[in-house]
Amino acid sequence: SGDVAALQNQNMQPGLEDRVVKALIQRSQKAKDFAYCPYSKFRVGAAVLTVDGSFFTGCNVENAASNLGICAERVALSKAVSEGHQRFKAIAIASDLKDDFISPCGGCRQFLIEFGSQWNVYLTKPDGSHRCMAVEALLPAAFTPEDIQKEKKEEEKAQSVDNYG
Ligand code: THU
Repeated sequence: SGDVAALQNQNMQPGLEDRVVKALIQRSQKAKDFAYCPYSKFRVGAAVLTVDGSFFTGCNVENAASNLGICAERVALSKAVSEGHQRFKAIAIASDLKDDFISPCGGCRQFLIEFGSQWNVYLTKPDGSHRCMAVEALLPAAFTPEDIQKEKKEEEKAQSVDNYG
């Protein structure tokens, strides 16, 4: 239908119902309450939804050795992966910024695209309003797991040339 075409043009995935989006965003906001951010005082929460309907949440966890701090998105994803989930429908990100949709950092975008380029990222505001973007729209021209595979294939090709002279 035209709707699906419009979604594809915006690099969005169709299919998440409004009430599911709402539930996901609410979870990300609850997770934000657990943020450990004594240095930045900038609270972030995230919630991921797996393809089989499970939710995992995360908050940012900072550290006195500041480069060791970790973002909410990576915590949520790592919790999911460490419990056997690698396929995702969506992630919602929440912060206290009233006037901006919180956007994932570059490192988190790379972390997200590791698990597919075609799933949804909900950038939200505290009032629950949101902007939805596909992972691939957040990280154009990405280096992905497929690139690693390509290199392996190139090596194999080079080797078979060696073998036959
Ligand atoms: N942060 C996140 O957790 N996610 C984001 O999308 C943006 C930044 C955290 C990292 C750090 O603890 C604090 O916010 C300030 O940068």
